[in-house]
Amino acid sequence: MGKTIVVASGKGGTGKTMFTANLGAMLAKKGSRVVLIDMDTGLRNLDLYLGLENNVVYDVNDVLSGMCRIKQALIKHKTFEGLFFMAASPKPDEGEITPLHMKVLCNKLKESFDYVIIDAPAGIEDGLIIALGGADKVILTITPEFAAIRDCEVMSNHIKALGIDNIHYVLNKVDLEMMNAGYAPSVDEIPGTIKSGLIGIIQYDKNVRISTNMGVPIVCMENTYIHKNFSNICDRVVNL
Ligand SMILES: Nc1ncnc2c1ncn2[C@@H]1O[C@H](COP(=O)(O)OP(=O)(O)O)[C@@H](O)[C@H]1O
Ligand SMILES: [Mg+2]
Repeated sequence: MGKTIVVASGKGGTGKTMFTANLGAMLAKKGSRVVLIDMDTGLRNLDLYLGLENNVVYDVNDVLSGMCRIKQALIKHKTFEGLFFMAASPKPDEGEITPLHMKVLCNKLKESFDYVIIDAPAGIEDGLIIALGGADKVILTITPEFAAIRDCEVMSNHIKALGIDNIHYVLNKVDLEMMNAGYAPSVDEIPGTIKSGLIGIIQYDKNVRISTNMGVPIVCMENTYIHKNFSNICDRVVNL
């Protein structure tokens, strides 16, 4: 039986979609069967970051509303054996989809996948509650900004109140020069509750931007520090 991991954040732009794409690709590289689901309805990007935007026929709302079968909405990645993708609906949800629908879908997928990884919308809106419907674990992406850290604490408490305690954090877009100059919070300034749950630190690197623009996960770049970093983060996720 697989596990469902929801990637969420308080603010947009913290790297949820980048992290989802690369975690999925790295897990698949290491031999797992992985399905990535874009639940950022209306503001979807995951298809672009995976280079699969031209392959989408059915989306997750088609599956949840019974318009098509699960298999019809699963898109196999071109490069990574074992990596599949289910697209978000381009239209905002009209209230027909509930967290229970999501739980049923995740449970079904967990029968044949090791990991179901969900790219959630930013913030604490209804879309997040639906995305969390089948969650076993949550990873929150944060950037080194006091506002992002505060929002992350609020998110964490909100998610815990829903009964999900397995929450971990990834600090993304770290600029060491800014940190060392005191212009961005250092790791020591991150509250203990978040710091103790950190499973990865990812530097700001323009190659990440290039990779999301090109639709090629950065973990395709073998023998780079970022590949090694994602490999380590991936091993920590496996042991969560
Ligand atoms: N570590 C990083 N270094 C440089 N750019 C990054 C990094 N992580 C994400 N980005 C860029 O930041 C932007 C927002 O990332 P994205 O994953 O779409 O955020 P979110 O899904 O949380 O809104 C994208 O252009 C992406 O390429
Ligand atoms: Mg996103």
